[in-house]
Amino acid sequence: MLAHALHTKYDRRMFESRRIICRSGFFDPLNTKISEIIINKLKSKSKPSKILDAGCGEGSHLSGIQGKITLNSETDHLGVGLDISKEGIIMASKDYTNKIWCVGDLAKAPFASQKFNFILNILAPANYVEFRRMISHDGRVIKVIPERDYLQELREIFYEHTEKQVYSNDNTLELFRNKLKLMDVERVRYSVTLDHTWIEPLIHMTPLSWGTTEERLLKAHEMNVKEVTIDLTILVGKK
Ligand SMILES: C[S@@+](CC[C@H](N)C(=O)[O-])C[C@H]1O[C@@H](n2cnc3c(N)ncnc32)[C@H](O)[C@@H]1O
Repeated sequence: MLAHALHTKYDRRMFESRRIICRSGFFDPLNTKISEIIINKLKSKSKPSKILDAGCGEGSHLSGIQGKITLNSETDHLGVGLDISKEGIIMASKDYTNKIWCVGDLAKAPFASQKFNFILNILAPANYVEFRRMISHDGRVIKVIPERDYLQELREIFYEHTEKQVYSNDNTLELFRNKLKLMDVERVRYSVTLDHTWIEPLIHMTPLSWGTTEERLLKAHEMNVKEVTIDLTILVGKK
C-alpha cells in the first residue's frame, strides 16, 4: 500500500531480534495488560471487534494480544497490522497467517474511516489525524510509550555521561492528551531475568543502539547484566 519503496533503519536484523525477544516472553505482562483493557471495554464475550496495530513491526504483539482476547471470547476478532517496513510485514505474514498485514504509512493509512474499534500503537510513531479518522465513534487508541527506566541497563552502557542517558516522554504524553481524550493511564513496570542468549537480540531490537558508538556496542555485548527493566506506560484515549 506504499506508492514507492522505502528503506528505513528498521531492518531485518532488528525485526528478527524483536521476534526472539517477544517470543521469550519479555513483553507478556504488557500484552496481558493491553488484552485486559480491550476485554474490559468489549464487555460482552460475543462482541466481535476490529483491531489495527499501527507500526506493528514483525507482528508478535498483535498476534499475542489477539490470541489472549480470543481465549476470552465467543467470537472472532479481526487483526490488522500496518507497518512501513516490508521486512517486518513479510515476517508477520509468514508466521501469523490469520490476520491482514499491510505495508503502508500510518500517516496515510490505506483504510476507510471509523472502521476500527481499537488502534494499537506500540513503541512506534503516531499520527493522530489518521487515528481519529479510522477509530470508531466509541473506539479506543491504545498507545505504549517508554518510561524513564525502560531498558535502563542498556541505556547506561550506550549513553553513559551523555544527555541521552536520561529519557523523558513528556512531549509524547502531552501530544496524546492534546489530540485525544485521555481515558486511562497504566504503568507497566517489571524486571526480566536475562538468559545470556538474549543479549545480542536485546541490543539489536531497539533503536537505542542506533545512536551509540561501536565501542559501546561492543561493551554492551560483553555486559554481565542479569536483569533488564521494562518500564512502559499504556495510554488509552478516545475521540
Ligand atoms: C520500535 S519499532 C516497534 C515495532 C512493534 N510495534 C514492536 O513493538 O515490536 C517501530 C515500528 O514503527 C514502524 N514505523 C515507523 N514509521 C512508520 C510509519 N510512518 N508508518 C508505519 N509504520 C512505521 C517501523 O517500521 C517499526 O516497525
